[in-house]
Amino acid sequence: MEALLVRKLGDPTLPPNASENSSLDLSTSHPIPNLESPTSVRVRIKATSLNFANYLQVLGKYQEKPPLPFIPGSDFSGVVEAVGLNVTKFKIGDHVCSFVALGSFAQFIVADESDLFQVPDGCDLVAAGALPVAYGTSHVALVHRAQLRPKQVLLVLGAAGGVGLSAVQIGKACGATVIAVARGNEKVQFLKSLGVDHAVDLSSANVIESVKGFLKSRKLKGVDVLYDPVGGKLTKDSLKLLNWGAQILVIGFASGEVPVIPANIALVKNWTIHGLYWGSYKIHQPNVLGDSLKELLSWLSKGLITVNISHTFSLAELHRREDQNFTTAMVMAGLQIPEGVSQRSKLDRCDDPGCFASNISSANSFSFLSFLSLESCVFSPCLLHCTPIIKTT
Ligand SMILES: NC(=O)c1ccc[n+]([C@@H]2O[C@H](COP(=O)([O-])OP(=O)(O)OC[C@H]3O[C@@H](n4cnc5c(N)ncnc54)[C@H](OP(=O)(O)O)[C@@H]3O)[C@@H](O)[C@H]2O)c1
Repeated sequence: MEALLVRKLGDPTLPPNASENSSLDLSTSHPIPNLESPTSVRVRIKATSLNFANYLQVLGKYQEKPPLPFIPGSDFSGVVEAVGLNVTKFKIGDHVCSFVALGSFAQFIVADESDLFQVPDGCDLVAAGALPVAYGTSHVALVHRAQLRPKQVLLVLGAAGGVGLSAVQIGKACGATVIAVARGNEKVQFLKSLGVDHAVDLSSANVIESVKGFLKSRKLKGVDVLYDPVGGKLTKDSLKLLNWGAQILVIGFASGEVPVIPANIALVKNWTIHGLYWGSYKIHQPNVLGDSLKELLSWLSKGLITVNISHTFSLAELHRREDQNFTTAMVMAGLQIPEGVSQRSKLDRCDDPGCFASNISSANSFSFLSFLSLESCVFSPCLLHCTPIIKTT
């Protein structure tokens, strides 16, 4: 089978097999994995998304460091191709999705049936391959940890990025008043098309003034839940907008700066600070992850959330994500995936003729997840952050 292997840690932007400096090796004859137990299932992968963590894995900078060589890749969707003798949940031909610590950048993967999720009829299989990491993180954060309620005010930083965009959609699905923060008019217009209640363009507005103005216009006191994948100065400014009793979801540090949240202010204002590492739920509370993913798949099939693909890569072209003018934080992150987005949205086509988004109907728009595809590759810079997808059939 085709599989992308990391033979040595290093720069993920060098083409596979290009030189002895390449970290990545594209094998076309990697052994198809065997069923490991009577409850194992082999899946022919349809799509797998690119996440920030995958980039860090290749660099050797991720918190978990697997022995070499390894196949990177985490969340995926596909079709059941073989089942062990005792498998009861799935049959050959079923559509499934899941996530793994490693191994999805390949044509086949083997997982225990307990780790796979049925993709319901009517649910786009490629979109399902982008759901676990980005949407799973935001769903566990907002629904499980913060228990976001209708009419609460949710402030999403990095709202045009992978996890930020999913937080926006999940916030709207929960009935919250959603304020989105992004950089650049095009992103802000896109976020508005998703139905956010207010969007701040950091490139032309001050976040404190803009949000305060909006809150005043709605006769709202402040922000109840802060979703923060960015950190740095933006976190510091956002703290000035929080209500008494607010909750802070610490998701990541895309700005490169870990923020300081003063404990004395947290005390006085009765804030709750949630640190969230989604992947660790798999070890400590796997049921939370399972329930979360099932709810997301149900929301996806009902159109409550929509995943849109902006870029599609083949395994051989994975490294090209870095060629483009994305910020470091965006490299192989900001999941971008399928087309579609919210039914409320109508984004104009991207002007860039090479961008996947330019090839979709103007009635559609895209969210920010990307996939790699083993069947096709459309890649080009786009002002909007899209999550790449790898499709494998
Ligand atoms: N805790 C977890 O379990 C978990 C799970 C998944 C991801 N993460 C983390 O979450 C972070 C974001 O991941 P992602 O996949 O969403 O990445 P992403 O798609 O690259 O998005 C990051 C966003 O951050 C914004 N940003 C970066 N630097 C900024 C700055 N200085 N000021 C304002 N905005 C800035 C960018 O905004 P613009 O688009 O407006 O430029 C971008 O959209 C990463 O640190 C990742 O490791 C954590």
